[in-house]
Amino acid sequence: MVALQVARNLIGGAANKEIGAVIVSQQDKPSPDSVMPEGAMAVSVIGLGKLGAPLAAVASSKGHRVVGVDLSASAVAAVNAGIAPVDEPGLQDLIDRSKGRLTATTDIAQAVVDTEITLIIVPTPTGPDGRFINDHVLSAIRAIGEGLKRKQTYHCVVVTSTVMPGSTGGVIAETLARASGRVVGRDVGLCYSPEFIALGTVVRDMLNPDMHLIGECDPRAGAMLEKLLASCVDRKVPARRMNLINAEITKIAVNTFVTTKITYANMLGELCEHLAGADADVVTGALGMDTRIGGKYLKAATGYGGPCFPRDNVAFATLARGLGARADLAEATDRMNHHQIDRLTATVARHARPGATVAVLGLSYKPDTEVVEASQGVMLAQALVRAGYKVMVHDPKAMATARRSLADAVHYAATPAQCAAAAEVLVVTTGWPQFAALRAEDFKPAPARSVAIDCWRVLDADRLAPVCDIVVPGRGDDHIDPAATKRVAA
Ligand SMILES: NC(=O)c1ccc[n+]([C@@H]2O[C@H](COP(=O)([O-])OP(=O)(O)OC[C@H]3O[C@@H](n4cnc5c(N)ncnc54)[C@H](O)[C@@H]3O)[C@@H](O)[C@H]2O)c1
Repeated sequence: MVALQVARNLIGGAANKEIGAVIVSQQDKPSPDSVMPEGAMAVSVIGLGKLGAPLAAVASSKGHRVVGVDLSASAVAAVNAGIAPVDEPGLQDLIDRSKGRLTATTDIAQAVVDTEITLIIVPTPTGPDGRFINDHVLSAIRAIGEGLKRKQTYHCVVVTSTVMPGSTGGVIAETLARASGRVVGRDVGLCYSPEFIALGTVVRDMLNPDMHLIGECDPRAGAMLEKLLASCVDRKVPARRMNLINAEITKIAVNTFVTTKITYANMLGELCEHLAGADADVVTGALGMDTRIGGKYLKAATGYGGPCFPRDNVAFATLARGLGARADLAEATDRMNHHQIDRLTATVARHARPGATVAVLGLSYKPDTEVVEASQGVMLAQALVRAGYKVMVHDPKAMATARRSLADAVHYAATPAQCAAAAEVLVVTTGWPQFAALRAEDFKPAPARSVAIDCWRVLDADRLAPVCDIVVPGRGDDHIDPAATKRVAA
């Protein structure tokens, strides 16, 4: 019956208001053996992956003593050797600056005993019904419970992994209460606090977030986390403190809103492509000036991909449908995003017949990462192979990860120039700045004339003009018959 000890204010209750200074009791004092600067905390971070490793390193670089925990012995060994366990710009530098304050272990319980606040950043994969699966989080929570049994003092547990709204105050709180024998919200704090980061800029995003989102089951936990987060940034950052479920909803609402905005720009792009003289860049440039709209993520380019946007949007729709609420907008966004691959394949087909060589430049879902989850480049390469094209691919970082999906269906080019030399059509699907270095000499010599579909406007159009027709998504001057525009728009 320990589960019933979960404090009543977990679901829907608690703080939608500003909360005062941190309450520091005798119990909160760090153990005498830990020599830390004033205000520094003892923090454990469970999960040293793409998000957890940077978070642990950010906290330790800011003076906190951090114990990283992972099931992977190699990740733990890397951290203990002072080596970044994942590839992320700026991470190694932070670890170097941590000066021994960052250690790692595979023992969650001991890490909990040795620290005062624990952040959980383990995977929450998407299940077949579109919901996030909490198994890894719950397994971490059970081990945390074991650690809590071995200490007397208050401890704050923070879920940073993306979870379905209702999880933290529901199954996670119940599991924590059962595993620790403590009353959640009184003897152990519980928060939900996601990060809003993009791979490739995780360190920069963590040091300069727009806000700290803190869902809390009790004010003491929220204040403790707010203090930690406020000390881990490069400038003052507003905190939004609220109950657990509002924070969980906010996390997927932010991503769903952004995916809707990206999709709007792509919808606009498709419209413009059908109107002679139209240019989506000109339209979105003006649209973004309206402060109600804003210019970020408003570019007619490729669809969105990566480990968060697509699945958060699907989870939002699944949740709404499951509750009997309308999910039309999220569902339409998902459908329109899948449509972007068909649209790009059709653009290729206007310039080359099946059997021709088409190069896909960019396999990572965004620049500066090797991650190819739901990547537009990989999906386009697959669609082009299905359509009968010979496909070449290149990516500065993601060749090995893409190979797991593309296997030997495509030819892997060592450089962008190799792609330019061989392909009749070249498609830039990721805005890697390296692709800007392509020169006219890299392309097929005259009389051949290549086509480059530059989804992210990275190519030097003036330099390539002598050898290459540059096609930009959202421009109506590519294939439009002005008479048709007149007929429909008149
Ligand atoms: N990667 C992103 O861009 C991003 C952005 C926002 C939110 N998130 C969310 O953050 C969470 C983590 O994502 P990630 O990309 O860092 O995952 P990841 O797969 O890169 O890393 C997860 C790490 O957790 C470890 N792990 C798994 N179970 C464990 C356990 N029980 N105990 C200890 N370690 C364990 C794994 O070994 C791995 O090293 C997910 O919920 C994800 O949705 C990720």
